[in-house]
Amino acid sequence: MRSDADVLSLLMGRRAGYSLPQAFYSDADVFQADMKNIWHKEWIFAVPSAELPKSGNYVTLQIGAYSVIVVRGADGVIRAFHNACRHRGSRICSAAKGSSPKLVCPYHQWTYELDGTLLWAREMGADFKPADHGLKTVHCVDVSGMVFICLADAAPDTTDLRKQAARYLGPHDLANLKVAHQSTIIEKANWKLVLENNRECYHCSGSHPSLCRTFPDDPNMVGGDDSSSSNAGKAHVDRCEAAGLPSKYLIDPCEQWRFVRIPFLGDAVSYTMDGKAAVSKRIGTVPFDNAGSCLFFHYPNTWNHFLSDQVLTFRVLPKGSQETEVTTTWLVHKDAVEGVDYDLQRLSEVWIHTNDEDRRIVEENQIGINSPAYEPGPYSPVQESGVIQFIDWYARTMEQSLVGRFRVAAE
Ligand code: FES
Ligand SMILES: [Fe+2]
Repeated sequence: MRSDADVLSLLMGRRAGYSLPQAFYSDADVFQADMKNIWHKEWIFAVPSAELPKSGNYVTLQIGAYSVIVVRGADGVIRAFHNACRHRGSRICSAAKGSSPKLVCPYHQWTYELDGTLLWAREMGADFKPADHGLKTVHCVDVSGMVFICLADAAPDTTDLRKQAARYLGPHDLANLKVAHQSTIIEKANWKLVLENNRECYHCSGSHPSLCRTFPDDPNMVGGDDSSSSNAGKAHVDRCEAAGLPSKYLIDPCEQWRFVRIPFLGDAVSYTMDGKAAVSKRIGTVPFDNAGSCLFFHYPNTWNHFLSDQVLTFRVLPKGSQETEVTTTWLVHKDAVEGVDYDLQRLSEVWIHTNDEDRRIVEENQIGINSPAYEPGPYSPVQESGVIQFIDWYARTMEQSLVGRFRVAAE
């Protein structure tokens, strides 16, 4: 059984620029430390708001031991609640998603409004106060159409994130999109391997024939600043910025999130097999078709692509030390009609292939790491600077949280 002190000492002993020691990818106690110090403290991407278009639409999420309901209220506001009844604690919604005018506990039918207030509870006696038994709230914020939740008592500030998201994501007008397709897959690998794999394209040419038709695997394309960007990347950013589309590389001072707009290869405009648009209705106020892809990641659980004709959101949720759920959502203009304005297979096939290819890669990565022969290996400074950046963020965030716990315990 590893204690917090053990996890901290393992972190302090890691070699910078190298993959993590085995325990960080496989050990159940380190996994619990990840849940406690990151997943139960940081903002977690839940859904695009377009997935809950109407009052009563809800989704449920399992984050470690916590079950959470995210629901759109009668007033149009999206809120999050602990999915545990205030009577004797039963889970209220067991489905992954659904729609209901009230939230009714299946055990004894206590009935809650969509804003969490307790509306009805049978024969609880004269002294019972319904107002004291509303659903417990979970922090919830709509960031330009991406709904995040936070399980911490005090959630981290989102002022800067919301301000920058309004600039970068605003032109894609997520509130006026609709879900065209969604896929959820299970990857038998630690969540950090899923994120590491996303943060580099060193593997792309060898693994992603469909994606590589349109997506540039040049690591300089997503430059840290203008000087390190490729000429094509810089020219694209300049062209988009001149047209009023915020596109310049921008990273949060804590390096938890980042925006940048990159070009596609050649004259491609979307993630399709032929590079042509997947949807005939352009979204939001994006000024031209070949706007490339605005990339937005937010650690620990989301990376996203904002195009001129579609938006792709990715949500990562850990299920166990070596099991991770990845949900991909394809969003298109709310008035786009399937079969008329887009073909579902054409829209979704590149990323369905790519996700499955990535699943196989990270599962093999996990199997190799589980061998007693595994030892941390060096990341390529040229190709894997994004992985180094993610792992450094992870180590820093864990260290700060673990050291904070010791301080509190010592006081
Ligand atoms: S536990 Fe929910 S109504 Fe009894
Ligand atoms: Fe990949």
